[in-house]
Amino acid sequence: MCGIVGYIGGRTAWPIIVGGLQRLEYRGYDSAGIAVVDDGQIRINKCRGKVSDLRSLVRGQNISGTIGIGHTRWATHGEPNDINAHPHMSMNGKFVVVHNGIIENYRTIKAQLEQKGYAFRSQTDTEVLANLIENIYLEKQISPESAIKAALSISVGAYGLGIICTDQPDRLFAARKGSPLAVGIGQGEYFIASDATPIVEYTDQLVYLEDEQVAVMTTDGISITDLKDTPFDPIITNVDFGTEGIDKGGFDHFMLKEIYEQPNSLADTMRGRIIEQTGTINLSGINEIMPKLVGVNRIIIVACGTSYHAGLVGEYLFEQFARINVEVEYASEFRYRDPIISPEDVVIAISQSGETADTLAAIRLAKQKGATILGICNVVGSSIARETHAGMYTHAGPEIGVASTKAFTSQVVALTMMAILLGRKRGILDDKTYNELTTELRRTPELISEVLKDNDHIREVSRAYQLAQNAIYLGRGYLYPVALEGALKLKEISYIHAEGYPAAEMKHGPIALIDNCMPVFALATHDKHYDKILSNIQEVKARKGQVIAIVSRGDTEIARIADYVIEIPECHEALMPMIAVVPLQLISYHIAVMRGCNVDQPRNLAKSVTVE
Ligand code: G6P
Repeated sequence: MCGIVGYIGGRTAWPIIVGGLQRLEYRGYDSAGIAVVDDGQIRINKCRGKVSDLRSLVRGQNISGTIGIGHTRWATHGEPNDINAHPHMSMNGKFVVVHNGIIENYRTIKAQLEQKGYAFRSQTDTEVLANLIENIYLEKQISPESAIKAALSISVGAYGLGIICTDQPDRLFAARKGSPLAVGIGQGEYFIASDATPIVEYTDQLVYLEDEQVAVMTTDGISITDLKDTPFDPIITNVDFGTEGIDKGGFDHFMLKEIYEQPNSLADTMRGRIIEQTGTINLSGINEIMPKLVGVNRIIIVACGTSYHAGLVGEYLFEQFARINVEVEYASEFRYRDPIISPEDVVIAISQSGETADTLAAIRLAKQKGATILGICNVVGSSIARETHAGMYTHAGPEIGVASTKAFTSQVVALTMMAILLGRKRGILDDKTYNELTTELRRTPELISEVLKDNDHIREVSRAYQLAQNAIYLGRGYLYPVALEGALKLKEISYIHAEGYPAAEMKHGPIALIDNCMPVFALATHDKHYDKILSNIQEVKARKGQVIAIVSRGDTEIARIADYVIEIPECHEALMPMIAVVPLQLISYHIAVMRGCNVDQPRNLAKSVTVE
């Protein structure tokens, strides 16, 4: 989704800002722009298209200013074009604004400003905000900072903002509500960005602004206050990843790199949580609320996208190991359904970015109703992580590819540890099973490495389906959510229409679609559903469908009837989602590459969905 980068300091601003925007490309966007204070003038360049187009536009213009703001836009109000691209300047040229989020009451404000003679160039809510700030500033004759705060006090909605005022060209203003904004602290210089990735090559010292805080930066220092002028000391967080975490590291795409990182990211999620010597699980982030968790009757999991699929795996895990009733909800549905929640409930929010607007709203609602909220997030210091009572970071490292891969397996391993620990504490799992499970869990990185070794074969299988128009993914039990995730990966990055189904449901509808052009990806490992999924595969073959089966190593029965098999190592069925998803990730990746798709930045998608 939209990205913000800003700079104030002693260096030429535009290369830092444009470079930063390039780092944010993974979030998804359709246009980009930059404004720099140069010789007391604000120079704006913006265009539809890629940051590289913006770079070509700016390069050679000899812009030497040292203060500026930049933006990548993912259209919400008004189509993607040069005019709607940010930054937006107010009508009399006093303020220039870049904005993430949505000002929900912009229509009312716009009508009021129009009555005062304001005219608008773009269709955006951001230009309305720029003009609102300017109008207050000129009418009330107050400082730019006070005008910004007054405008934000009457704006409803979400914002992450970078602002420059022509009357105070030595200042950079930033503000946030709902939409994240980080400030990087350097030596006599400051960076702002919608996440840490553009900042980490310059400094590891970050301040995450809280809702309704406004930061004012000069080369001499920073002040942070809220909309009512209450001052705050900056709380500095040290980020623990450098640029190597956000480079492709020799891979063609971030997605492939992240698929290959899974043995390490999974180990990182487990590190320090499964005690090496004893094999016991210790989750310090949830210790405080352990008594509540041990006695809980119902867990509600809320999430979106891939994180929702991890939540579905969690449902099976908590029910099997801890015998806890679990409901898994799309956060967007949950928040508007007037759900029945009581203080006895535990709500788990799963989110890679920790910023997904619907998930954030869902936990706020559950909190109001008294529930205990747990977070499973990847991004440290993210909004969801900060608003939960307890939780676990997945520590998977930055995920740049829009299609989530390593975040999924890390979320699943986090849920697995939680479910096993609760099962133990609730007296459901005996010593032997508990030990077997933790031993097996520690093997999962190695098992994923084995799957990755089969990449050449998986690429060849993928080749056969690169021209497919549709696909069906089937799984049962723990592998049903994996079927959903496999289908999501394929549609996200290769634009092939794909459906995930519980295998037995196939005969209630999707079977009508099967003909000799329909690839059916069947998850058919050795577990208690094996015979049943074998029958489902036969049903597909009887209708001349193409079957690509993910099977346990050494399987011969399915190999006889399937068109292709991909063998994966055996493990406990509850841990199989982490292993079985890997070939599906690779299949989507290879098909997307073969179709010439933009794997890391698929069309219309955003990495972090900060609007509802
Ligand atoms: C977007 C991303 C998905 C992600 C979903 C939820 O749609 O493209 O990859 O699964 O948001 O994001 P979250 O950060 O909350 O896990």
